[in-house]
Amino acid sequence: MKSPIKVVVTGAAGRIANSILPRICHGDGFGFDQPIDLVLLDIAPALKVLNGVIMELQDCSFPLLRGIEASADPMVAFKDADFALMLASCPYQPGMMRLDFLTRNKAIFKEQGIAINAVAKKTIKVLVVGNPANTNCLVLAAHAPSIPRKNFCALTRLDHNRAISQLCFQAKCTPADISGSICIFGNHSSTMVTFTEDGTIKGKPVADVVGKEFLVSQFEPRIQERGYAIISEKGSPSVFSAASAAIDCIHDWMVGTDRVVSMAVASSGKYGIPEGVFYSFPCVCKGGEWEIVDLKVDPTRNPELNTKLQKSYEELVSEAKMAGIY
Ligand code: LMR
Repeated sequence: MKSPIKVVVTGAAGRIANSILPRICHGDGFGFDQPIDLVLLDIAPALKVLNGVIMELQDCSFPLLRGIEASADPMVAFKDADFALMLASCPYQPGMMRLDFLTRNKAIFKEQGIAINAVAKKTIKVLVVGNPANTNCLVLAAHAPSIPRKNFCALTRLDHNRAISQLCFQAKCTPADISGSICIFGNHSSTMVTFTEDGTIKGKPVADVVGKEFLVSQFEPRIQERGYAIISEKGSPSVFSAASAAIDCIHDWMVGTDRVVSMAVASSGKYGIPEGVFYSFPCVCKGGEWEIVDLKVDPTRNPELNTKLQKSYEELVSEAKMAGIY
């Protein structure tokens, strides 16, 4: 059994946390041989709720849960943290100006970035789930300059999982029938770009099974708009699918995977995306480190790809400007 790691969860009294905490404590994220000291961070008025959350987690008798505490102070919560799962954000309200949305989130992630920079372990790894995830991650990393940029990641695994699921639905197959690289590029927003050229379904190229027309006119818009479609049906954003995707991302990043997965990580010029934003790329992970995979991109098969990749990049630059990073 390994030594315990300190895992901080922000927004710990919220709905996504409610779905994710039992799974983390069960071992689904960090592995079944990894004990955890859990720290729940939320605003002061939520501390009473957090006491109830702690009681429930205690009642589960999870063998891997070694310690658990709650705090409303980021300087206390992030002290010596090994991993931070950033669920808290200011939710988008209908009618809210985009600038207002980004500015409110900037305030949250700036305060938390400063705390991470000051008190967390320099090896901390951070996954941002709260939206706008890519730009919140950029704000966080910008305020934690003593932590390597490669230790920050924003969640696009939800979009990746949605892509696999929609292909299965169309091809009447299961995820196990899909191989090769299926991935998401860009922002976790309606400018995201799906990439299926390297994928196969039961050994045949994806486009040969589901048709190019489906991929362009139905599949990609469906993934781009899925979050809104869920809000319009449920009246509130996705909860357990986001939690499940975050667990998948933590697992593959920290424990490792043979598959290509989508992670929004610091851009470095690959795929023509300049340094300076957190952008979803196809990644492989080993030993707690990710690496961007160089997929074969054939411009004759996908002439629009570059334009779409740049559009998502430009959206991220405009978000970064609104958040005061550029
Ligand atoms: C989703 O994609 O379901 C969520 O990111 C949507 C949201 O605004 O929380």
